[in-house]
Amino acid sequence: MDNNNRRKLNFNSRAVYCPPDEATKAVNPPIVMASSFEYDAEIFQRIVDGARKEVNIYGRCGNPSEYAFEEQMMMIEGADACLATASGMAAISVTLLGLLKSGDHIVCDWTTYSSTHEMLDHRLTDYNIETTFVDTSNIDAVRDAIRPNTKVIYFETIANPSMKVAEMPPLVKLAHDQGIVVVCDNTFASPYVMRPLEWGVDIVVESCTKFIGGHSDVIGGSIAMKSEILPDDFLEQIRWNTMVKLGSPLSPFNAWMLQRGIQTLSVRVERQCENAAKMAEYFEGHDKVSGVWYPGLESHPQHDIARKQMPKFGAMLAFDVGNANNALKVLDTLELSCFSASLGGVRTTTQIPALMAFLDIPEEERLEMGITQGMIRISAGLEDIDDLIADFDKALSGI
Ligand SMILES: Cc1ncc(COP(=O)(O)O)c(C=O)c1O
Repeated sequence: MDNNNRRKLNFNSRAVYCPPDEATKAVNPPIVMASSFEYDAEIFQRIVDGARKEVNIYGRCGNPSEYAFEEQMMMIEGADACLATASGMAAISVTLLGLLKSGDHIVCDWTTYSSTHEMLDHRLTDYNIETTFVDTSNIDAVRDAIRPNTKVIYFETIANPSMKVAEMPPLVKLAHDQGIVVVCDNTFASPYVMRPLEWGVDIVVESCTKFIGGHSDVIGGSIAMKSEILPDDFLEQIRWNTMVKLGSPLSPFNAWMLQRGIQTLSVRVERQCENAAKMAEYFEGHDKVSGVWYPGLESHPQHDIARKQMPKFGAMLAFDVGNANNALKVLDTLELSCFSASLGGVRTTTQIPALMAFLDIPEEERLEMGITQGMIRISAGLEDIDDLIADFDKALSGI
């Protein structure tokens, strides 16, 4: 089946189907563990003449296993092009460094993953690229922050860890009216829960380490594009001019793992979303819990926006137990859920954002991001919900 026909399929069929390997007819593409490839005079001449993806040049420039993953990712994002990277942060940095030059400006939401915030707030400033942080749910604040040199508006579709849901259509309209590129990080949602390119966003980045891989055993990232305002070959330009030069390609083995992950994404995330919704309801009724953040709850500030934009409310949630000591005690008591830095895997994982990923960010900035000292973030897994709730019940009874 060619890509045009694949695009006409529904989500699950697009995720599962992949063309058989041409050389071996293997049903799923084999891993090509190669850093170097042999040339002959004809291949060499094609490379000299400027051939790129059509011939295998060198592992850092591209590899057949990466290309197979990129095709599969392109299908589930509804994208016209996709570029695989070594990690989610590589996807974010390659995208921003590919779009921006010294003197440019970004408008970014207050709440993003800590390394993204720190890259914008510290690293990019060293290269004279400035960021204004705003609450992107306030469209007037975004409009006021735009300057003549603003090139990018950046946000997370579901923000880490505040669970704020970005309303995409007004942001896209405001940006595109002024030729500004809209980039979002869709890691917390995953393409099963939200497909930002269908809402007019130009570029979507994912940490594939999370729901795409789904088993807490692989690091990788992707950049997918469908844009009216960027050149059609923009991702190929940044593959060569930025990703290859920075040296951040996805390894063939990780590409193969992620390509497999895509094929079971929907069944995993469907169940994870169910568990997240049930946990959110449970926490909302618990007397030791002072706040719950989950887009599926009516109490969530962007619940109506989430209903419009997401067929499911996602597998991520957070709740507040008053202070960091309580949070640590709860996580240390849990036996079934795993106290860990990452998310999106088959096991339920928990973390305390203020003490972990966001520790280096000053407390007043953390509060601006909606991160309280007692906040516990959960990535719902595939366990039986009764066992999960019993685990949390026991842990909460100890504070
Ligand atoms: C929302 C979000 N984006 C990006 C990243 C970075 O991904 P990676 O660890 O694959 O570089 C993370 C990591 O936790 C994340 O939570």
